[in-house]
Amino acid sequence: MNQIDLNGRLAVVTGGAQGIGLAVARRFVDSGARVVIWDRDGAAAERAAESLGPAASARAVELSEDAQIEAAALAAGPVDILINNAGITGGNAKTWELEPAIWRQVIEVNLNAPYVACRALVPGMIARGYGRIVNVASIAGKEGNPNAAHYSASKAGLIALTKSLGKELAGTGVLVNAITPAAARTPIFDQMTQEHIDYMLAKIPMNRFLEPDEAAALVAWLASEDCAFSTGAVFDISGGRATY
Ligand SMILES: NC(=O)c1ccc[n+]([C@@H]2O[C@H](COP(=O)([O-])OP(=O)(O)OC[C@H]3O[C@@H](n4cnc5c(N)ncnc54)[C@H](O)[C@@H]3O)[C@@H](O)[C@H]2O)c1
Repeated sequence: MNQIDLNGRLAVVTGGAQGIGLAVARRFVDSGARVVIWDRDGAAAERAAESLGPAASARAVELSEDAQIEAAALAAGPVDILINNAGITGGNAKTWELEPAIWRQVIEVNLNAPYVACRALVPGMIARGYGRIVNVASIAGKEGNPNAAHYSASKAGLIALTKSLGKELAGTGVLVNAITPAAARTPIFDQMTQEHIDYMLAKIPMNRFLEPDEAAALVAWLASEDCAFSTGAVFDISGGRATY
């Protein structure tokens, strides 16, 4: 493992109780950062934080509730790094067969919550002249996966938020970037049909799933001072699937 220097940094990782977020939180702690996990599953977040040791803590946050994000931001202290990682798939169905309530829920968690979290934490980063924000989008946001219009649209929106905010903050010391992973075998697979999982694997030229630790390595670099001249950018991690 390469050494990434996050010493003295305070990071918030949303959805850090499991999966990619937990791998990111672990990599951050190993890199010297203090990490606060925000997750709606408070018990799982506590267990995750305990497994990471004293540099990690947890807070139960339902990210579809603006007030909970705002309260968590106030309680967190001077946050240097925000990883908008929490996400849901909303299942798989043809666009015209999706329930509007599920469409809205996916947009709420995957797109609106990152916006609210940025809104809460960016002013402090600007005031301190330093910040790193990494939004965990998806290759689906670039390509549009069939039977996942809600998910794909939410991730496309997150990519556009990254680009707009990155330009607004260029020159402040606060950099905003996104990653677009292909499929990783995490508990999120329970929210998808086997047919959809098979479709995603078939699209990956490396013919395997992404490992959460591989995503964490890219996020750790983007969250560090070494990432200094990239903002509003979208970083591929799709095993060769992406063509742009
Ligand atoms: N695993 C993949 O195949 C894959 C591929 C591309 C992108 N991604 C993205 O990576 C991110 C992490 O995915 P993962 O595979 O680790 O998922 P996961 O389901 O394993 O973990 C997601 C975490 O987010 C939390 N969460 C979900 N909704 C929340 C809410 N409303 N409020 C607070 N916490 C909430 C869950 O409790 C869970 O701990 C997601 O944004 C996902 O869309 C995943």
